[in-house]
This record gives sequence, C-alpha cells and structure tokens, in this order.
Amino acid sequence: MKILGLETSCDDTGVAVFDTDKGLLAHKLYSQIKTHAEYGGVVPELASRDHIRKLMPLVRAVLDEAGVDGANLDAVAYTAGPGLAGALLVGASVGRSLAWGWGIPAVAVHHMEGHLLSPMLDTENTPTFPFLALLVSGGHTLIADVQAIGEYRILGESIDDAVGEAFDKTAKLLGLGYPGGPAISRVAQNGIDGRFRFPRPMTDRPGLDFSFSGLKTAVATEAEKFDLNDQLVADIALAFEQAAIDTLRIKCERAMKEAGQRELVVAGGVSANRRLRDTFNAMADKHGWRVFFPPLEFSTDNGAMIAYAGAARLLAGERQGTEFNVFPRWRIEELRPVK
Ligand code: KG4
Ligand code: ZN
Repeated sequence: MKILGLETSCDDTGVAVFDTDKGLLAHKLYSQIKTHAEYGGVVPELASRDHIRKLMPLVRAVLDEAGVDGANLDAVAYTAGPGLAGALLVGASVGRSLAWGWGIPAVAVHHMEGHLLSPMLDTENTPTFPFLALLVSGGHTLIADVQAIGEYRILGESIDDAVGEAFDKTAKLLGLGYPGGPAISRVAQNGIDGRFRFPRPMTDRPGLDFSFSGLKTAVATEAEKFDLNDQLVADIALAFEQAAIDTLRIKCERAMKEAGQRELVVAGGVSANRRLRDTFNAMADKHGWRVFFPPLEFSTDNGAMIAYAGAARLLAGERQGTEFNVFPRWRIEELRPVK
C-alpha cells in the first residue's frame, strides 16, 4: 500500500509517500523558520498562510519524485492534532479533498503518535511492543507505556513547559534566536564544563512528572548577574543542556526500572539533540537496555512519520467517515487501539 502523508501542525510543511512494501518512496519538507525568526517564535496566522502556499506544490513534487500519481495511492494521512488550529485545518482540508477526489480513504493521525512511531522508519533497528516511550518536542514532554499502536498510558509528563519550549525560551534569553534547541546545542559545544550548574527539577521526589519552567528561570537569574559574552553564553548553554538532558535521563531510568521494561523509544524534536542521544545510549548500555531514536532527519516534524503512522492505522483496518475535524488539544491517551 502507498500512503501520502501530510504534516502541517506547526511551522513545518512536510509531505511524504510511504510504501508498506518498499518503505519511504519520497519526502520533502519546507521549514518556515525564516518567516517566524524575526518574531522570535511561531506566529500562527503566518504559519497557516505559508502552509496554504507550500502544501500543494510539495505534494506535486513528492508524487513526481516517488513516481506515483494520486490514482495509485491507497490513502492520504494527515495530522489532525494536536497543534495550531489554523495550520491543522490546512493539512486536514487538503488531505481530505485529495482523498475524496482520488476516491481513497483519508486517515487522521495524532502528531505525537507520528513521532512515537518514527523510529520504525529505520527498518534495520525497530523496537518491539510493549516498550516505553519518551516524547520530547516543543509542545510535549511525556513518558508513555506503549502496549500497541493506539494503546498508550501516560506515566509522567511536564506540569508546565515542554522541554523543547525550555530550550527555545532559554535560547531567547541568551540571545541565541529561534529555534532554540539546535542553537543551544551548537554553542554548548564551546562551553566550559563545570562553570555553571543548574537544578534537575523534580528528580529528588518520587514520580515521573517533569517541570521545566523553573530551570529556565534559574538560567535567567544566573544570566542577569553577568555582562554576557560569547564564552559565558556557551558555558550557560552547556550547563542548561546538561541539566535538561540529565533530568530526562533520571526520570526515564526510573520509569524503565519501575515498569521492568528493556526497550525505550525517544522521539520528538528534542531527540535530535546529540547530548541526549549519547546520554541515553550510555544509560541503555549500562543496564543492558535498548534505546531507539528516529533517523536524525525525521526527529523534528516531517511528513514521513505521518505517512508511516497512517499506514500502520490503515493496515489495522482504520477508516474515516466523511465528517472531519481537527483537534488542537488532543491527549495521546485518548487514542484507541485500531484492532
Ligand atoms: O517535534 P518538533 O519538531 O515540533 C513539535 O512537535 O513541537 O520539536 C521542536 C522542538 C523545538 O522546541 C526545538 O527547539 C527542539 O525541538 N529541538 C531541539 C533540537 N532540535 C530541535 N532541542 C534540542 N536539541 C536539538 N538539537
Ligand atoms: Zn512534533
């Protein structure tokens, strides 16, 4: 089966064709970073307009590259939530219209399920159910017990900022621009280890919830004491990155032990972080566990993960009626198994 996947939940327009026999046939991404950079964050109205402009040309280009036309596709999968309402509506409207025109099913995909399944795009090395998943993006930080596709139980999550949001806000206050995650990890490479140390929030009490807003405030308080130069910014960025990643590691180590699990998926935009990957690989080695990440290019938002998740749901028999809706706020726990 060949599935077209559309991702428009935030500031990336992603399109891909996934073939359940041959794997990914083609994928393209248009990033709106330049549009939003001067505002220091995503402007929802501009995001919707950019998706409208870019989505159909990308669909055309991806179908050409994949060498398939609409009539040969088996379904169109689109991100139905969570995300920015206007941005989601672009993908949902285009996706459902194309499916209608081609006479094929449309499949509504949960963005975080797309991330969760994205390590499966690396066919060499895939996790087996059940496993635990750490999902870390600009809007979410959660640990989930994953029994099967659609069968998720949240074991812990952030009670305030998502970890990606903490990266973005910290980068902003250090004058590093948007998006903050890649900027922080870039300058942190020049940081001197041990110059600063920030707290690992909520690790000294039981439970698996996170809190990252205090960490950002701790950085702000420290940064205010200095007349910042490049070296100090690098030192602070390094200490922030260490604290954020270490916090994620401590909670995941605890969750894995408590659940008696041996396999962990780490996905979402922040899983692109080098220090995170090294830290989690070291943790897995220490305990004889296995940790799975998406291929680097599919860590941040993309159409391939939506096509893949749509394919998985379609294979399991999911079909959509003609009604459609988007879900800007949608907890992954609300999903139901497809079988
Ligand atoms: O999954 P994603 O592309 O979009 C959402 O679903 O939110 O994640 C975006 C988030 C942003 O907060 C961005 O700063 C962060 O992922 N991010 C990173 C890195 N690359 C992206 N954070 C830390 N290190 C990175 N290398
Ligand atoms: Zn995402």
